[in-house]
This record gives sequence, C-alpha cells and structure tokens, in this order.
Amino acid sequence: MKKLILLVFLFAMTRVYGQEQTVHLIPQPVEVKQSSGYYTLTKASTIGFADLQSRKTAEMLAQKLNIPTGFSIRAQQSKSGSIQFNLNKIPVPQIGKEGYTLISTSKGVVITANEAAGLFYGMQTLLQLLPKEIESKTTVKTNWKIPAVKITDYPRFGWRGIMLDVSRNFFTKEEVMLYIDQIARFKYNTFHWHLTDDNGWRIEIKSLPKLTEVGAWRVPRAGHFGQRPDPKPGEAATVGGFYTQNDIKEIIQYALDRNITIVPEIDVPGHSMAAIAAYPELSCSKDPNTKVNPGSSHSEWYGNGTFKMLVDNTLNPSDDKVYEFLDKVFTEVAALFPNQYIHVGGDECYKGYWKQDPGCQALMKKLNIRHIEDLQGYFMNRIEKILKAKGKKLLGWDEILEGGISPEATVMSWRGIQGGIEAAKMGHDVVMTPTTFAYLDYQQGESTIEPPIYSSLRLKKCYNYEPVPEGVDPKYILGGQGNLWTEQIPTLRHAEYMTWPRGWALAEDFWSPAEKKNWSDFVHRVETQFDRNEIAGINYSRAVYDPIITTSTQNGKRILEIESEMPGLDIYYTIDDAMPDNFTAKYTAPVELPEGPVTLRVITYRNGKPIGHLITLKPEDLKKR
Ligand code: ACM
Repeated sequence: MKKLILLVFLFAMTRVYGQEQTVHLIPQPVEVKQSSGYYTLTKASTIGFADLQSRKTAEMLAQKLNIPTGFSIRAQQSKSGSIQFNLNKIPVPQIGKEGYTLISTSKGVVITANEAAGLFYGMQTLLQLLPKEIESKTTVKTNWKIPAVKITDYPRFGWRGIMLDVSRNFFTKEEVMLYIDQIARFKYNTFHWHLTDDNGWRIEIKSLPKLTEVGAWRVPRAGHFGQRPDPKPGEAATVGGFYTQNDIKEIIQYALDRNITIVPEIDVPGHSMAAIAAYPELSCSKDPNTKVNPGSSHSEWYGNGTFKMLVDNTLNPSDDKVYEFLDKVFTEVAALFPNQYIHVGGDECYKGYWKQDPGCQALMKKLNIRHIEDLQGYFMNRIEKILKAKGKKLLGWDEILEGGISPEATVMSWRGIQGGIEAAKMGHDVVMTPTTFAYLDYQQGESTIEPPIYSSLRLKKCYNYEPVPEGVDPKYILGGQGNLWTEQIPTLRHAEYMTWPRGWALAEDFWSPAEKKNWSDFVHRVETQFDRNEIAGINYSRAVYDPIITTSTQNGKRILEIESEMPGLDIYYTIDDAMPDNFTAKYTAPVELPEGPVTLRVITYRNGKPIGHLITLKPEDLKKR
C-alpha cells in the first residue's frame, strides 16, 4: 500500500512537473514533438558555433542568458557546445532560408539551419523554452530547464512586418531599437519605418538640410490628436526630433543582426506638410506660413473615405523642381537602406489644390488627362523611374492602383482587403495590411475605457486573420504586416501596449501553418507571454480579460449580451447602481433589460478573483450598443 501511495505521489509530481514544462511558443512552430526529460543550463554550459556566420547569434544568446542566470557563458567556435549552432552544409529545402530545427535532450541543445536567419529564430524559440525568468534584467535563482523537444519550423510568409509611425510621435534611436528587438522575438523580419508625414520629417537628408532643421520640429501641444490648437504666429517649434544618417546606419545594423530588414517610407505626394513647412515652394499653394502640424485639425472627413485638406499638404505634381527634390531625397534614402524596396506612400492624397493650380491644369492638357485623380498616376510613375534608376523597387499604399502604376510596383492593401485582391489579380505583388485585421493603432477593448481612436480591432479578430484572400493566387501575397500609427501613442510604453498581444496574433498569422492555428490554445500561450512581459518590463494590453457588451432589440425588448474573449471567465454585473463583484448577478445567458435609465456595470473574475477592468456603461452608452 505504501509503495502504491509513493507511486501515486511520484506520478502526481511528474504531472505537476510536466505542467511546468509545457511548451508554449508564439508563433506556433510547424512541428513540435515533446519527449520526457530536460536539459538544465548551468554555469558549466557552453555555447558553440560551427561557422563564423553564426557567431553573432551565438554571442547574442550568451549575453541574453548571462544576465538572468548570473553565469559567464561565452560563445566559442566549436562543434560541441552544450548549446550548439550548426549550419547545414547542404541546405535542407523544407526549412528554406529562415527555418531551423531545434533538438533538445538531457545532453544539450542543437539548433540547425540553412542560413544564419534560421539560427536566430531557433535561438528565439530556445529562449521561449526556458523558464520565464530568462526575461529578468537581474540575476534570478531558478532551475534553468529546457524541455526535451524536437522542433522543425519555418515561416509561411516571407514578409512578416510591423510598421511604426515615427512622424506623429517621435521615438528616439534607442526606443526604435527596443521596439525592433521586441518584434524580432516573434520572428517578424520586416520593419516598415514611416519616416515622414504632416507631423514631422524624421530622416536627415544632407542635401536638403531644412527638411530636418524645420520639418522635424513642431510647437508643443497636448490633448487629443486632431483637436489641438494650431501653431501661433512666431511660436517656437520645440518638439520633435530626427535620425541622423549615422543613427539610421546603426539602426539598420541592429535590425540586420536580428534578421530584420527595414523598409523606409517617404510618404508622398500627400501627407507632406512637414516637407512643405521646410520648402513651401514644393506645393501648389506655396504658403510660406505652412507649419509642421502639431496634431491640430487640418482636414474634414466625409465618412466614405472622401475628405478635404484645409491646409495644403500635397507636393505639386506639375513642377519639375518637385522631382528634383525627390531625386535628392531618394538618392540618399537608397544609399542608406539595403532593402530593395522604398515605400513611397501614395495614400490619402487630396487633389483639391491641384485642381485649382494652373500648372496642374496645363500638365493635364498636355498629357490629355481628364481626371485630376490620374495626375497621381503620372506622379507615381515618375517616382518609380527615379527609384528604378537607383536600383530600388516601388512599394505604396493601395491608392497607387488608382492612377495606374507599372506591374512591377508592390501594393500594400490597407483599406480592407479589396485593394490587395485587385492588385493581385492585376499581377502585382501584395503585402496585406488591412485596417480590418492589422491596424494596431485601433482600440483593442471596451471603447469607454480604451484611449479613443478611429476604430476597434480585437485580439481574436487579429488572430483569425487569413492573409490570402479567397480567389487570389497565393503567389502574389508576399505576406502581411501590422501597422502602428501613432497619432494617439505618445510613448514607447503605450506603443507596446498597443502592439502586444495583437502583435503575437499577427506573428502567428504570418509565420504558422494556417491549419495549426487554434484560438483556445493561442490564448493560453498569450498568458504565458504576459508573464514574460511582466518580467521583461514590456507593456501589454489585458483587454482580452474584459467583457464584450452588446445590446439588441428583440420583439420590442432590450436584450443585453455579454461575452469574453478569454474562455473560462466568470462575468458579474449590476443594473441597480451597485458595484458588481462575485456576489452580484452572474451572467450566463442573454438578459432582458428593464425599462428606465439603466446603468450597466460589469466585471470579470477568474478563480474567485477579479481579472478584468470594471466597465460602466451609462444609459446613453448602453443605448449605442
Ligand atoms: C494609411 O493608413 N493611411 C495607409
């Protein structure tokens, strides 16, 4: 009997232990086979790399491990490290350029790839296999166990991007690097850098110094973007910043070390107010009082995507000086960035000032162009020629399709997926970045408590995104990208809040096999990452724990429905102006709301403890659901 009890006890212990060792990886690899046992990292562990191309990754791992473990592991050229990086002499086609295999046993870990990129991703997976304390910035005492696994992994798409807008809010060089490091952990390989817009020009162009002397700075303002007071005459522009070309070279190398290529964006012909503040002669209006916009209202939107610019932020397509200007800009941009693409924007270009401009009218006559919209096609085709002369390919937002563009141009589908479908059908390469699934600036939770912005996009919707639209030949879909616009993002910490966990969902959309995706499994892995972020000091949103509240009218009755994205939460509510907790009504099925000015209060619990925010919907809020 005693033996039996001991056996049961041992079995229970291995169960508990087994749970500790659960492999929770994001993005989900192509294949994970877990076996029993583990390797424990100790101060006697070694890191070996067989080839010099693997040195950077091996050294990066040593650096990363030594901080929390307090060990002094050094990466050395060797064939027998306890963590060993090997490159295949003969490439294994299945894993491609970015794939890897990771085999861990009680003796150690071997990561094998065809190219250095794969080793880097193998390293990222290894870090996720280690206990969460590996994210600590100070020494921690724990058992540094790596479960025994055999992983074969490679990406579904070659373009796995995140865009950061550094115009609306300027992020320092160090912040950009931190952000790049964060996205690299989840096997993103493309950083789209939105460097110019109405609110700041952020890249040093040596031949056009005013772009940063004037264009990088705006007057100080607080408050909601788009509602801030205009610059006053003579007011000093003291807020902003820019990257010197040396900064940019440093960031490019930093990204390259993490298998991230940078796509620079110079957004033209619209979104150019900062450039025009520096060189007013570039616009049709030539207004010398044009200022870098500090987030004041400069446009009117009419709901269906049409709008009017109250201030001219558009380069003049009929002026050869504009192309001379852009030739200078793109000469320097092309020399800095190794990526074959330069993103030239092309989005939201207001044509009202072109329409009134005699030069544009004359050009239209000369070219026999009837519609003002087609002038953008003319502009884009000239830009493409400039880029081609510098050995670069044109990439633009989906508006570039409207005026006609060469088939070699690559299109970023952002106004939903339609632009991507049309572009692919016309034979363009496409990157899918639709507002509907990939806009990381949108609210991710209950709109009454999240900072206000144009629209909403929940984690589950991000996760359920399929980047290849139906009926489209997948060969045209290079991949996808999450876009972080920063009108309402004043700090890196808030950029993190908006990026995670949705950036994990998109990482899995772009990396993992579609058939491996599983929401209920994913949310558990998300919680594992939450714990890691806590230790790493990286911000994230917990909106996934908040209730989703809707009301509808059925047979003249108001019906309330509440759900939660995270499975297994208990939802408690009140409609009597009492504070809700786990002693008030538990939501289990749709509720008929009584007549009267009801205020709804909802809170979620798990295991008897509150886990979500308290949501309060006043009668007028509730009516809108
Ligand atoms: C965009 O969101 N204007 C591309």
